[in-house]
Amino acid sequence: MKNFKEEWNRRMIDINEILGKFLPAEEGCQKTLWEAVNYSFTAGGKRIRPIFMYETFRMFGGTDDDLIQPFLAAIEMIHTYSLVHDDLPALDNDDTRRGRPTTHKMYGEDIAVLAGDGLLNLAFETACKGFDRDLKKSVAALKILAEKAGGYGMIGGQTVDVEMTGKPVSEEIFSFIYKNKTGALIEASMMAGAVLAGAGGPDIQMIESIAEKVGFAFQIQDDILDMVGDEEKIGKPVHSDEKNEKLTLGSLYGEEKARKIAWEYSHAAVRMLRSLEEKESDASFLINLIESLMIREQ
Ligand code: IPE
Ligand code: IPE
Ligand code: MG
Ligand code: MG
Ligand code: MG
Repeated sequence: MKNFKEEWNRRMIDINEILGKFLPAEEGCQKTLWEAVNYSFTAGGKRIRPIFMYETFRMFGGTDDDLIQPFLAAIEMIHTYSLVHDDLPALDNDDTRRGRPTTHKMYGEDIAVLAGDGLLNLAFETACKGFDRDLKKSVAALKILAEKAGGYGMIGGQTVDVEMTGKPVSEEIFSFIYKNKTGALIEASMMAGAVLAGAGGPDIQMIESIAEKVGFAFQIQDDILDMVGDEEKIGKPVHSDEKNEKLTLGSLYGEEKARKIAWEYSHAAVRMLRSLEEKESDASFLINLIESLMIREQ
């Protein structure tokens, strides 16, 4: 794809514009809550989950922007809440995120816990806006978000991640952690995009499997950036895992082997996308994105 970087950047700008429509007004007696929510949400992440959702939607022929937009905002709200809580002293205890002091550093732990809770709830309040547009598809997408964000998804993965801190971790447990703490929200993004476009059962299963691989590779790259990344670029502390005595696939395998494994997962995802491409429309942006995430520096 020509000018992929420009295309990616354009999508990020578009997504940020859409997300801006769903921000809460900083008013009312609970004004501090909304300030903390907006502080974390607008700090400027890569927005890869809404980008994955929107691109999958388009790949399956989705055109109704009014239907998908609330879901684009919802997935980014869920992801942002997971970061706010992940950074808390009780979890990873990190001081910077997205190039800024973490939410608890700015607003205190009490408000940061509540801002995370507020974002999670706001995500579902926002996704429900799709009901007026297409009830059946919205309910199906909402179910995916609810399941993948919960104890059988992201929260389940985070639970095992914190329990395994300072302990040896088997490959089976690593798989569980990576599939859930990181994979689940990427699965939710792509699956919801497909469902909202009207894709059916076997395609959704295929998308889930593609997204699982993307998530696995994405988390390994995150581990590598924690080991050898540039703090300025990643916008969060390096060596956070080491500080927390957290064994990762990055540290277990070492940079070179970890990169190789991450590429294997990415290539497997790309191969599956190519087979879908034969019956759906062009997946070249998604394929380029998956590959670019492997050489990302932030
Ligand atoms: C960080 O996610 C947490 C992980 C699951 C690895 P991102 O790297 O997508 O963070 P932002 O949204 O760009 O800040
Ligand atoms: C966290 O993994 C994944 C989440 C569900 C938030 P990490 O703890 O490695 O994420 P970073 O490195 O702090 O972004
Ligand atoms: Mg963590
Ligand atoms: Mg962390
Ligand atoms: Mg990390």
